[in-house]
Amino acid sequence: MSEFRLKRVYDPAAPEDGRRVLVERLWPRGMRKADAALDDWLWDIAPSRDLRRWYGHDPAKWPQFRRRYREELAIHTGLLAKLQADAGEGPVTLLFAAHDRQRNSAAVLKEVLDEGWGHGGRAPTQSQEPRQGAEQPRFRAMTESDLATILELESGCHPDPWTIDMLQTSLRQGHHCRVMELDGAVLGHAVLQVVAGDAELLDLCIGAGIRGQGWGRLFLRHLIREASEAGACHLFLEVRASNEAAIRVYSGEGFHQVGRRPRYYVLPDGREDALVMARYIGDGEQTL
Ligand SMILES: CC(C)(COP(=O)(O)OP(=O)(O)OC[C@H]1O[C@@H](n2cnc3c(N)ncnc32)[C@H](O)[C@@H]1OP(=O)(O)O)[C@@H](O)C(=O)NCCC(=O)NCCS
Repeated sequence: MSEFRLKRVYDPAAPEDGRRVLVERLWPRGMRKADAALDDWLWDIAPSRDLRRWYGHDPAKWPQFRRRYREELAIHTGLLAKLQADAGEGPVTLLFAAHDRQRNSAAVLKEVLDEGWGHGGRAPTQSQEPRQGAEQPRFRAMTESDLATILELESGCHPDPWTIDMLQTSLRQGHHCRVMELDGAVLGHAVLQVVAGDAELLDLCIGAGIRGQGWGRLFLRHLIREASEAGACHLFLEVRASNEAAIRVYSGEGFHQVGRRPRYYVLPDGREDALVMARYIGDGEQTL
């Protein structure tokens, strides 16, 4: 039976800790490496910088923090599987820095590990909102063999759908062309371009029959993380001014309008303005 324990990193190490794993993104203030007696430091499994800052250990935000961090954890199947494998060898102590011993990210991590997330390398199932009881999708690179499916999705997504030439060009140019799928079924696709510290989301599309279930937001969060990991500090996108659903998804994930391009889109029934939206996704001080 796997055993995960919680401990504040500032408390003295003890033999019963077993494997001591720090699960903070930042090194704990004032802590000496030797005193921490770490076996591992999984900084990448910690809450994203934005989530951590938003939470700020405000007890009123705890329920929402817990839900949002569980969503973030859903994409860390590899790290969860590693922790489960470690726990197969003996106790694993998850070390955190927060003063609050109950309401911290390590407690959420322990909760999902105790629920069995990451067992056998499987994607975790989310037992909490927004997608109750649902399997988690996986994100993978788009290939030529996806194009027929993608074109079908495109025709149900945009008044000016991408053509096969546009998709092939994006693949050739090495854009981050991604597919989100669940049990082999394609739920949606996206195209992201990262150039010299900036990223642009060129396309995001969720199948017409499955919208409004949280897939778009989940995909967007994955793309933000991917762009950030590729070194981008800002993520830009253009959206039709009347596309309320998309604007709501983007606003909900911290994007702000930074410009407007009049009559930018050429549509079958005329022209429409584009809103330019952007979000800072870098590590340092926000510059947008
Ligand atoms: C935009 C799109 C990707 C959103 O995907 P989705 O899976 O439907 O969105 P989600 O279910 O994750 O919704 C996330 C948020 O947006 C809101 N939202 C989604 N569809 C909405 C709609 N039609 N009207 C108002 N709000 C909507 C949700 O309520 C949710 O907000 P909440 O958490 O505050 O309730 C999807 O609608 C789509 O593929 N549209 C066609 C293609 C497109 O327009 N792409 C964007 C190009 S810039």
